[in-house]
Amino acid sequence: MASPGISRRGLLKGAGAGLAVGALPLPASSTPDFDPPAGAVAVSSANGLGTVAHAVKRMSEDRLRPVSAAVEGVGIVEADPNDLSVGLGGLPDEDGKVTLDAACMDGPTHNAGSVGAIQDILHPARVAELVMDRTDHVNLVADGARRFALEHGFKPTELLTERARRIWLKWRAKRTNDDRLWPLGDREPVDPALQGEARPWGTIHCSALAQDGSLGCCTTTSGLAFKIPGRIGDSPLIGCGLYCDNGVGSAGATGRGEAAILSGGSWLVVERMRAGDTPEEACLHALRRVGKQARKGANWQPILWAGVRPSFGLTFYAVRKDGLYGSASMLGKPGSKKFAVADGAGARLEACAIAFPS
Ligand code: GLY
Repeated sequence: MASPGISRRGLLKGAGAGLAVGALPLPASSTPDFDPPAGAVAVSSANGLGTVAHAVKRMSEDRLRPVSAAVEGVGIVEADPNDLSVGLGGLPDEDGKVTLDAACMDGPTHNAGSVGAIQDILHPARVAELVMDRTDHVNLVADGARRFALEHGFKPTELLTERARRIWLKWRAKRTNDDRLWPLGDREPVDPALQGEARPWGTIHCSALAQDGSLGCCTTTSGLAFKIPGRIGDSPLIGCGLYCDNGVGSAGATGRGEAAILSGGSWLVVERMRAGDTPEEACLHALRRVGKQARKGANWQPILWAGVRPSFGLTFYAVRKDGLYGSASMLGKPGSKKFAVADGAGARLEACAIAFPS
């Protein structure tokens, strides 16, 4: 059976000579012809209810390109001091410095921009958009990214809030897990009691589809709390924390960035949609792949695997060119994890599928 939204013509094109119609999976290199969407759609992590509403409004009413709608939408969360995982109020690195990662990707031009480990800049996603639009590069990091932002009129802003500073001080007082590992071969099983304070991976991703079928996406984060200075996660890495192909769909990730990097997760989700998966199936496929990799990874990092499932959170979000959308999360009880979506019916939270349910 064709997935909803993939036309018979698309299947024939994808199947190629000698392959029966309906014999999915399609060869990975072929792209089906998707039906046009009914209207604009945006998906994001659960902290992005306002983000997706804003993105859909800007695409529908103002014909803003999807990547800019996504960048504007995540800006609401970047400026929210109560979100401990993004922008202002984000938790700092182990030295108490807030360093931000962000990237965006534009479907129609297949161009992207990103900033990694940037400091003092409230809206790193906007800087990433400028890197995309105003340079011939994709990635700028650290001081170079900051200087580029200042050159373009961004004002230095203190991002460490009093609340985030107090949480960092509490972690530093205990400091039982700082991401450093003993050499291989000399590594003992980790006592869960020594894992210390919870180390949240927050982030916001937004994938946006305009009514004309064009796509764009953006991911922005303060990264892993109390990280080793200089660490960047998946969010500024194209194909890892976000990816879009204007002929297929858009995807992104939140959660353990190292896992999204090691799997090329967002690229994989888009390629699975190209091969015929629904967005939810594609997200589940990528998470199961990550699960297999985590099991191997447990040889070098025991805390990656907890008996029958990975021990870390990771969530993928996806929207397909025809407007079908979905999300899946690594862990949790069915129905317990949510993602945000907006379309012609308004903005709402919906349940993520779960790859390793408890
Ligand atoms: N996914 C965000 C990070 O790991 O930095």
